[in-house]
Amino acid sequence: MKSAKRNRNVGGTSVSRRRPERFRGSHILRRPFVTATFAMTVDGKITTRTLSPVDFTTREDKLHLLRQRSLGDAVLIGHSTLKHDNVRLGLPQEELREARIKRGQPPYPLRVIVSNEGKIDNRLKIFQSDISPIVIFSTTLMPRKYRCALLEKATLHLSKSRRVDLAQMLQTLRSEYKVRTVACEGGATLFRSLLEQGLVDHLNLTIAPYLFGGANAPTLTGLSKEFLPQSVHCSLLGMRVVGDECFLTYRIRAKKH
Ligand SMILES: NC(=O)c1ccc[n+]([C@@H]2O[C@H](COP(=O)([O-])OP(=O)(O)OC[C@H]3O[C@@H](n4cnc5c(N)ncnc54)[C@H](OP(=O)(O)O)[C@@H]3O)[C@@H](O)[C@H]2O)c1
Repeated sequence: MKSAKRNRNVGGTSVSRRRPERFRGSHILRRPFVTATFAMTVDGKITTRTLSPVDFTTREDKLHLLRQRSLGDAVLIGHSTLKHDNVRLGLPQEELREARIKRGQPPYPLRVIVSNEGKIDNRLKIFQSDISPIVIFSTTLMPRKYRCALLEKATLHLSKSRRVDLAQMLQTLRSEYKVRTVACEGGATLFRSLLEQGLVDHLNLTIAPYLFGGANAPTLTGLSKEFLPQSVHCSLLGMRVVGDECFLTYRIRAKKH
């Protein structure tokens, strides 16, 4: 089996970044363009029921994830994925970093963590690497001892509500950090919240040639038994097949208000 923790230490090539279509022309979004990237099994599972790292995709997919990460001004991750996968969110490939510099971006994307409770362990690997600034969006539920420890490593945005307002978070990233593109690396809980609020623009989905089964293993939209408030239409923009893996890119249709 393969791991939802996709190995971040693989070699790669540079890719040119196309400007997302909503940035072309005069229309300017008040929030960044959000692209989510996931791998799932043929039966729709993104990990196993223990949420522990499981390796189920190829080197090509791991490189695909890094390429997507390299396109973002910021990379966004939910606290649970950060905790389980213990990733630095770096870019090991020099080519990818050089391509960013050519596009006028810093070598590494801004690293953004979302947590409601804020009990984020400052010993996680991400805090041991200073490749790019780390920004944490959380709430005043964050215990004091975590605040003090994290302040040394990251910028904290703590809201008074019990949940982080994701739309507001994206606006802050746009206005305060000049972030125009966000590469969201999940997990499912965060993705579902973004989706419910119409805050996802593109979805990159790798279909890996495995079936896991099991009601307790999360799908792309998590473990919730609830339907989404409304079904979300995805338009297929691209498909690439490499070996037994299929790389899909969807445009997520904007939510109608
Ligand atoms: N196959 C893949 O491509 C892939 C990709 C990513 C992750 N994964 C796997 O997915 C699993 C983790 O997914 P997950 O669904 O459990 O967790 P997740 O989405 O990574 O993180 C959930 C946590 O993020 C915070 N959060 C979520 N929504 C929020 C919101 N609206 N506002 C503020 N904070 C919010 C909360 O943190 P607090 O609890 O701190 O409040 C919540 O518990 C791991 O096993 C990981 O390996 C797989």
